[in-house]
Amino acid sequence: MSKIKPSKGAPYARILGVGGYRPTRVVPNEVILEKIDSSDEWIRSRSGIETRHWAGPEETVAAMSVEASGKALAAAGVDASRIGAVVVSTVSHFSQTPAIATEIADRLGTDKAAAFDISAGCAGFGYGLTLAKGMVVEGSAEYVLVIGVERLSDLTDLEDRATAFLFGDGAGAVVVGPSKEPAIGPTVWGSEGDKAETIKQTVPWDRFRVGDLSALPLDSEGNVKFPAITQEGQAVFRWAVFEMAKVAQQALDAAGISPDDLDVFIPHQANVRIIDSMVKTLKLPDHVTVARDIRTTGNTSAASIPLAMERLLATGDAKSGDTALVIGFGAGLVYAATVVTLP
Ligand SMILES: CC(C)(COP(=O)(O)OP(=O)(O)OC[C@H]1O[C@@H](n2cnc3c(N)ncnc32)[C@H](O)[C@@H]1OP(=O)(O)O)[C@@H](O)C(=O)NCCC(=O)NCCS
Repeated sequence: MSKIKPSKGAPYARILGVGGYRPTRVVPNEVILEKIDSSDEWIRSRSGIETRHWAGPEETVAAMSVEASGKALAAAGVDASRIGAVVVSTVSHFSQTPAIATEIADRLGTDKAAAFDISAGCAGFGYGLTLAKGMVVEGSAEYVLVIGVERLSDLTDLEDRATAFLFGDGAGAVVVGPSKEPAIGPTVWGSEGDKAETIKQTVPWDRFRVGDLSALPLDSEGNVKFPAITQEGQAVFRWAVFEMAKVAQQALDAAGISPDDLDVFIPHQANVRIIDSMVKTLKLPDHVTVARDIRTTGNTSAASIPLAMERLLATGDAKSGDTALVIGFGAGLVYAATVVTLP
């Protein structure tokens, strides 16, 4: 017989507030065309992207996270001192250690909240949300802050025509806390490491310490290129279109929701054609509002779902209490889908 007392958490968890931060600099496709042979028309029609935001020197991963979190806390009506854990999903924080989450927790004024980073690419928001729900229900935190934040402009090779136009910067945050009824459904998640090569960093960091830089990729001026994200666009596209629609359907089934019951669909913002294809495969009825934030935000990886959620609520295209299907997918390859009640 165990002597350990059971933990006391909330019966259920929900998203109580969402906040977003988009860098002030808006970058139109024309700027991207300075370095690659392409056209505004091609970028718009093949990806859906018209503009994206790029962070300036002051808009650090921590600074953008603090801004987005402040808005999420205000929307939730929760004081930072009551946050028990800060989970930050990012692939663009450049210090291996410590986690950026501890600085963010401190700057927000939490009371020594547990804080850690996770690396789950474009599925990072769903991974963080799943952890947060577990903490609230298990009782190790009453409120949890989940942040998706990226400065992907730092990891973009502007001379690579396959990726130069795709990525953007920004932060999205949600406060997860107790609920009397289910408001975050079961997560359908997973990984397919056999496809790890399809989205990856061009050169691992340790290659830079060897001294012999001769085998490293060079830019058009002969300088060693900073590592960037590279992908096999078509392979990832096909995987997203065929496999992720199935995962989205499984998340609906797990939550006991039919497409008719849905109000909102917030997929990862990677390509508007992937979004449109998923809408078709899932046979989402016309009344379902679909997030197409990619047009003006680009692909912000872990930040894309909370940023899209925040914008839909801010514009009135979605409202508090709506039932939304969220699905993230990307580098790993990894994915996470769940049905949530919007804050
Ligand atoms: C990147 C992406 C927009 C490219 O679109 P695509 O339709 O697959 O484009 P392709 O790579 O098949 O290239 C089609 C043609 O356009 C050309 N092309 C590629 N990039 C181009 C560019 N920037 N401008 C103009 N033409 C371009 C190619 O050379 C090719 O020409 P060809 O037919 O003469 O050989 C798309 O593959 C994509 O969105 N992939 C998935 C991204 C994603 O989901 N990531 C997930 C997580 S981060």
